[in-house]
Amino acid sequence: MNVLVTGGCGFIGSNLVRYLLRERPDWKVVNLDRLTYAGNLENLAGLEDDPRHVFVHGDVCDRAGLDRVLAGHAIDAVLHLAAESHVDRSIQGPEVFVTTNVLGTQHLLEACRERGVRRFVQVSTDEVYGSLGPSGAFTEESPLQPSSPYSASKTGADLLALAYHHTFGLDVVVTRCSNNYGRYQFPEKLIPRMVVNALRGEPLPVYGDGQHVRDWLHVEDHCQGLVLALEKGRAGQVYNLGGGAERRNLDLVKGILAELGKPESLIQFVTDRLGHDRRYAIDPAKSRRELGWAPTHTFEQGLGDTVRWYVEHPEWWERVLSGAYRNTVTLTPRGRGA
Ligand code: NAD
Ligand code: DAU
Repeated sequence: MNVLVTGGCGFIGSNLVRYLLRERPDWKVVNLDRLTYAGNLENLAGLEDDPRHVFVHGDVCDRAGLDRVLAGHAIDAVLHLAAESHVDRSIQGPEVFVTTNVLGTQHLLEACRERGVRRFVQVSTDEVYGSLGPSGAFTEESPLQPSSPYSASKTGADLLALAYHHTFGLDVVVTRCSNNYGRYQFPEKLIPRMVVNALRGEPLPVYGDGQHVRDWLHVEDHCQGLVLALEKGRAGQVYNLGGGAERRNLDLVKGILAELGKPESLIQFVTDRLGHDRRYAIDPAKSRRELGWAPTHTFEQGLGDTVRWYVEHPEWWERVLSGAYRNTVTLTPRGRGA
């Protein structure tokens, strides 16, 4: 199996590359990434000499480049993660979200259709369903009601992927996952931002009243779900993935401070995010039933491990904060792939 992972130098993508090399040792993993601010070759440290992983510096919006990669590596299946992923950035500057998330996905779908790729997994988000009230959970049949430019662009990408299945018969599976946490997450997202700020003795900015709820899933459990969706998902179907670990932001931030032995006085309530979704929760029954997927990490243990990882790897996040990581230009002795 030759699998193309797009966005494999980001948070989930780099964890997925490692997961694939460990759990599917006979697969070849081609990792196409543009290395935006969110892409970091240091997330793949230790894989330099692994011939099963090939890094290609490329853009999902570059159709000719996509053709070269699909043909040159005889790609059988695609796990499409490359995206602009941060809601706050999409509020400050939506355009790149439409370019990468919508147009980039369409270019990739078209290239896969022409090259006869056997399976396309569109890695999406629970945010396409919008916000929940105090009870209930998103199923795959929940209406699509995205709130932010980020989630609207992901919704557009999902619909294009499903349209390529319906119209052209491309073998597409869509996964929609809740909030991930784990190692190598860019410290603009809630958990790493709070850990890093606490370690630096800086204020922890909690948006609004801090009562917004997210449903947390360990990134390795997400990776397991993506591989199962690739192997077992039915074409044209959507699968929700979620950890069953709903937490209010404020409670989560207090838990991180407790884990680090830092005072709650570091918490600073700040102006709320525009259009801020109040609550997400996933009903993963279909993924459990059809894919045999089940998370293996409890939230308390997974969060503790994750906080420790950031404590033990200051060199990783210090280089991210200083921008030094952007000077890392080669991954393998072969350099950037063709
Ligand atoms: P991330 O921002 O950490 O990484 C995104 C990666 O995509 C980076 O390596 C970046 O360089 C790359 N990229 C961006 N534009 C590109 C382009 N034009 N061409 C090629 N590569 C490009 O994101 P993440 O948190 O790892 O999320 C990965 C995917 O999973 C996204 O599609 C996101 O919507 C989805 N998702 C994320 C979460 C979460 O909690 N983080 C939850 C559900 C779904
Ligand atoms: O639900 C899945 C989504 O989860 C993914 O599709 C997105 O790519 C990913 O970024 C994430 O989106 P969120 O907006 O939920 O994640 P974020 O970490 O930005 O924020 C989580 C919650 O914490 C949200 O309610 C906003 C709040 N927050 C966030 C930051 C960065 C704060 O209160 N303070 C902060 O500094």
